[in-house]
Amino acid sequence: MAILTVRNLTKSFGALVANNDISFDVESGTIVGLIGPNGAGKTTLFNCVAGLYRPTSGRITFEDRDITNLPSWRIARMGVARTFQVVRPLKEMTVLENILVGAYMRTGNPAEAMASAKRCMEMSSLSHYMDRRAGGLTIGNKKRLEVARALATGPKLILLDEAAAGLTTTETREMVELILRMKSEGVTILMVEHIMEAIMPIADKLVVLNGGEKIIEDVPGVVVEDPEVIRAYFGEKYSRRLRKGAKEGNDDGRDA
Ligand SMILES: Nc1ncnc2c1ncn2[C@@H]1O[C@H](COP(=O)(O)OP(=O)(O)OP(=O)(O)O)[C@@H](O)[C@H]1O
Ligand SMILES: [Mg+2]
Repeated sequence: MAILTVRNLTKSFGALVANNDISFDVESGTIVGLIGPNGAGKTTLFNCVAGLYRPTSGRITFEDRDITNLPSWRIARMGVARTFQVVRPLKEMTVLENILVGAYMRTGNPAEAMASAKRCMEMSSLSHYMDRRAGGLTIGNKKRLEVARALATGPKLILLDEAAAGLTTTETREMVELILRMKSEGVTILMVEHIMEAIMPIADKLVVLNGGEKIIEDVPGVVVEDPEVIRAYFGEKYSRRLRKGAKEGNDDGRDA
């Protein structure tokens, strides 16, 4: 079942069409990757889904409810959380306090909020840094803090905008583990990512944008072979390397 549907979504900024007639579904419980070159329209699409931008035309539904023109706080309350491409923790607050801000979006009960914040903190491997000022964290910890805060709001769908950008190999692996942990808890994930190591092995499906248009939607193993995607985004050499690491989409038990 689709938890999120995007239908004929168009978003223009004056003469610039940042999203042009885009349609796709996000199936409940899956990880969907949104990829494409710089300026392809990925963040714009996130902003439309999260209610930060009002689409020029088209329709977005979440759990079969039309959310196209709802304000962002209502969409958030329905169970859609997001992280931002540029991390913005509350720098002077501690790690735990930052996560509590998310938890209080869901409940006004202090004991409940604390319990939920601590659970998300642990899940994000941040317990060790609980009392540290968020502003002093490494980028890897800041990025996981951003996810932890979003997770603490108790979302059904989480939108991750370049969660692995700027991370070391080890930090990227930690982020991938966190994303898989969220999936195993039943959270659906729509993620924008340029770091292919972070998305190819875990995405159930990729949606590729280029110049505001959707050029393909398929399992990673098929997307990396697509000539148009290779031309627009990967390049030949990169694509050969990716083919090895891509999820083949044979999770139904059949042999590849
Ligand atoms: N608020 C805005 N006003 C005007 N133009 C915008 C606005 N937001 C985005 N754009 C334009 O829309 C296009 C798509 O931008 P967007 O940020 O969605 O791309 P992106 O795929 O997220 O790129 P990146 O990989 O660099 O983050 C770009 O040409 C951008 O300049
Ligand atoms: Mg972007």
